[in-house]
Amino acid sequence: MNELTELHIAESFVTRSMAAISPLFLLFLIPIIPLSLLAILALIVRPRPIKIPIKSRHVFITGGSSGIGLALAHRAASEGARVSILARSGSKLEEAKKSIQLATGVEVATFSADVRDYDAVSKAIDESGPIDVLIVNQGVFTAKELVKHSPEDVKFTIDVNLVGSFNVIKAALPAMKARKDRGPASISLVSSQAGQVGVYGYAAYSASKFGLQGLAQALQQEVISDDIHVTLIFPPDTNTPGFEEEQKSRPEVTAIIAASSGSMETEEVAKKAMDGIKAGNFTVSCNFEGFLLSLATTGMSPQRSFWLAFLEPLKNGAKPKPNDSPTMYLEVLLAEA
Ligand SMILES: NC(=O)c1ccc[n+]([C@@H]2O[C@H](COP(=O)([O-])OP(=O)(O)OC[C@H]3O[C@@H](n4cnc5c(N)ncnc54)[C@H](OP(=O)(O)O)[C@@H]3O)[C@@H](O)[C@H]2O)c1
Repeated sequence: MNELTELHIAESFVTRSMAAISPLFLLFLIPIIPLSLLAILALIVRPRPIKIPIKSRHVFITGGSSGIGLALAHRAASEGARVSILARSGSKLEEAKKSIQLATGVEVATFSADVRDYDAVSKAIDESGPIDVLIVNQGVFTAKELVKHSPEDVKFTIDVNLVGSFNVIKAALPAMKARKDRGPASISLVSSQAGQVGVYGYAAYSASKFGLQGLAQALQQEVISDDIHVTLIFPPDTNTPGFEEEQKSRPEVTAIIAASSGSMETEEVAKKAMDGIKAGNFTVSCNFEGFLLSLATTGMSPQRSFWLAFLEPLKNGAKPKPNDSPTMYLEVLLAEA
């Protein structure tokens, strides 16, 4: 064989081998790409996994005299925390205190203040002592088309839900940042699924709850070096005194949209919320529909789980189309899940 023939044989061997290998090689690449991405995400996701203890720690809950806040206070007390609750009505606070004592034997501290009044909130928080877990839960909600909402109602909703949350956090933050060797701390905000997606009838309420998202994201960056972990909780409709009142004047369209995400009991929401707080999760959804909604609307929120950090961008493209029904957002999200 001369040199030219040898070269020809070698060339045809390489070409045939490549032809045989390339489909196999491509098949091999299919799982490798997502697996490598997951491995990279496992290294870079922030903040890192953490455990925030509740037992023997000071848990301060605004709006702790009713509904979700009261259920959270029961749960924190039954897990061995020192609990403080803040709300406006002294009689509701007394009632809540008695019910928690009866159920758990724990005597909670009560503080009567309006979250819109910074000085009153600050005084209550100072009196209560350094906080380890702050749960900003107070909230007001009335479903009404914006055209029927008075400017005073809109302002009231934003003032209690958003400005009030700033007041509570600002009042608690210096002592929380200054705490020494007390372990990881939490600042948790109770938002709503209407704080993830705008809902008919909730222009003011959604705006107030969307505001919490910006507050939480920026705050997390500011306090992570103090070992303080921010959590945003997104309950669906929940059976509470506030919800019962709101039902009386809810527009039909609002009811249809809200029904697409089901409803929950306060104890179930409190359990999901407390588990999320203890895990230091930035986002806490309370049911399956809420989980899908969180995947679709997460944006650039911090994510501790590399699995979810992988799934979130895949869900970010879900968009309603022009002729979708009033329940479009949740329907589309569910259909595309
Ligand atoms: N229930 C739902 O369907 C649902 C769904 C999603 C999200 N959420 C959110 O969950 C949180 C709790 O709602 P909920 O249904 O449990 O309400 P709720 O039963 O009406 O309880 C609200 C609590 O907030 C307190 N509060 C209201 N305005 C206040 C103010 N200006 N200053 C201090 N405390 C104030 C109330 O006490 P006083 O009136 O005595 O002040 C009460 O303790 C709210 O942020 C709400 O937006 C609720």
